[in-house]
Amino acid sequence: MTYIIAQPCVDVKDKACVEECPVDCIYEGERMLYIHPDECVDCGACEPVCPVEAIFYQDDVPEQWQDYIKANVDFFETIGSPGGASQLGEVGADPQWIKDLPPQGQ
Ligand code: F3S
Ligand code: F3S
Repeated sequence: MTYIIAQPCVDVKDKACVEECPVDCIYEGERMLYIHPDECVDCGACEPVCPVEAIFYQDDVPEQWQDYIKANVDFFETIGSPGGASQLGEVGADPQWIKDLPPQGQ
């Protein structure tokens, strides 16, 4: 089990969560950010700081955003387990269906 980032992050990418994560496991894609399921230590620090409430404990992801659980896994199929997001910067490894989403947010 882990925390995951869902639809409200798409095209918003506030990144307040990144500042809170003690293990630097929140990685930036082109359209949204993703939490590494193996690197996350389930501390919960990221969840309350997201201004658009995009972060959920895996068991609490709303029904309409269940696909985002898989998105947070699939993003890392291409980049593996880099062991730290800050040195990496933005990576264009978003799953294709995320890339194809119509513009979101404001
Ligand atoms: Fe996205 Fe919220 Fe973090 S918008 S980048 S999950 S603070
Ligand atoms: Fe990081 Fe803790 Fe969230 S390890 S991704 S701040 S649950």
